[in-house]
Amino acid sequence: MARRRVAILISGRGSNMTALIEAAKAKDYPADIVLVISNIAGAGGLAKASDAGIETATVESKPFGKDREAFERKLNETLVAHNIELVCLAGFLRLLTPWFVKQWEGRMLNIHPALLPSYRGLHTHERALADGVKIHGATVHFVVPEMDSGPIVMQGAVAVHDDDTPDTLSVRVLGVEHRIYPDALRLVASGSTRLENGLCKTGNAAPAAALIVPAIT
Ligand code: GAR
Repeated sequence: MARRRVAILISGRGSNMTALIEAAKAKDYPADIVLVISNIAGAGGLAKASDAGIETATVESKPFGKDREAFERKLNETLVAHNIELVCLAGFLRLLTPWFVKQWEGRMLNIHPALLPSYRGLHTHERALADGVKIHGATVHFVVPEMDSGPIVMQGAVAVHDDDTPDTLSVRVLGVEHRIYPDALRLVASGSTRLENGLCKTGNAAPAAALIVPAIT
């Protein structure tokens, strides 16, 4: 099967973008990262993508002000011009309109730093720590019009430590993000996932060890 043509949308440093680019170097990976687009001029991830030999584009959102659809039309034109088949949001800090989401329905993924549906929105690590949860993590999901919702493709969990700060916890969660995003894209690009009644099914999931926190020794 031909490798699927993927664009990654970023706004910042692009560490998830880098994880996807690295994964796509494998010969058997079912996706090619062909384009990285930032809505912020000079975003750190752009230079990293160029260094990796990936074409980059900047479609600035700022000049469009509150006209989100006008910005998205330009973004969409860029994606279509590059024959993009799948879009990965990776720290892309723009709310998307239902119009744009519709264009990429079932073909756009996002990564969120929490175990959805817990902690939608911002400051997920601060809120998890304030609630005293013992397990936290990250989620890759298909994008739907409602923010941080949509069929879940993959989740990864980490233990929360007594002395965690938002910073230490974010480092641990980010490590999981960098593992699950490439794996989730592999599933979607290879056609191993299917949507059933709004839920994502993968089948034949290998058994994983239970994560119990705190573990009593
Ligand atoms: C990541 O932690 C990602 O999960 C988060 O932004 C960070 C981007 O980092 N995304 C969101 O909060 C979206 N709701 P990166 O630029 O290094 O990949």
